[in-house]
Amino acid sequence: MSSRHLLSIEDLDRSGIERILARAASFAEVSGREIKKLPTLRGRRVLNLFYENSTRTRSSFEIAAKTLSADVTNFNVSGSSVEKGESLKDTVQTLSAYDPAAIVIRHPHAGAAALVANWTPAAVVNAGDGKHEHPTQALLDVFTLTRRIGALDGKRIWIVGDVEHSRVARSNVLAFTRMGAHVTVCGPPTLIPRGIEALGCDVRFTLDELRDADVVYALRMQNERMKDAYLPSLREYVATYQINGRRLGPRQVLMHPGPVNRGVELSGDVVDSPQAVISAQVEAGVVVRMAVLYELLAGARTPSPQPAHRVLA
Ligand code: NCD
Repeated sequence: MSSRHLLSIEDLDRSGIERILARAASFAEVSGREIKKLPTLRGRRVLNLFYENSTRTRSSFEIAAKTLSADVTNFNVSGSSVEKGESLKDTVQTLSAYDPAAIVIRHPHAGAAALVANWTPAAVVNAGDGKHEHPTQALLDVFTLTRRIGALDGKRIWIVGDVEHSRVARSNVLAFTRMGAHVTVCGPPTLIPRGIEALGCDVRFTLDELRDADVVYALRMQNERMKDAYLPSLREYVATYQINGRRLGPRQVLMHPGPVNRGVELSGDVVDSPQAVISAQVEAGVVVRMAVLYELLAGARTPSPQPAHRVLA
């Protein structure tokens, strides 16, 4: 990794991604054994700082760090001094006094992880910052997909749904294109950010050409991030954009970052179909996050302080 933090897929080039995936593959071999623990990060502290809800990301970061023998603290915002009005900066500086080797942060504001990186000597991993990025999700998706269909060069991947509010979409467009795939984002015009083509993808507003896709990556309808009415109705969304048994071809691979709104972006039958790799994505979360922690904290390159990071959103 070129930086001592993982804030964005922009921090990685193709070889950096491949390096993490190779490391994750070697960890996947170990995770099949009965005794899974490795001593790599023994005696080092990893702090999970989550200002937003999470099931998969937080638990898999915790399992990943523990599997590498790190001591993990989960900092819960509810019940902390954040509720008394302590700022993110003060919280990070306070917690940095415990000398964590890494801080894993999820926050509702774009750019929060990059700010945290300026306020702590710890390595910072972005576990989702607002609508901006979710780099470890993109890495685990590339890992899962490569295992299923091989190299992504020339593969056609459609990302469908609420692209506007999706940090997963942004990170995944970057990661999939770096790995040689051709990415199309698709959804209602109100949910496709203007200028997204600049990330290197195509845009479609209908599913008419969905059959061309090798991979269909559905996104969750992120109601919690919608302040205004983005959709005339959910029924209309379902009628036009839901990925269901009628729309998904038999050879297409189906992905979703979770949590799934069954009956909205995906019909229940496709979630449970053999084409869906949704639980493989969850499983990959542990080994890929192990690989990221390994690269940042134990990799060959000795960490050196870096100047402030560019905030991309
Ligand atoms: C995503 C997230 O929180 O960004 N979930 C996840 O990490 N697997 C996507 C979502 O919330 O829809």
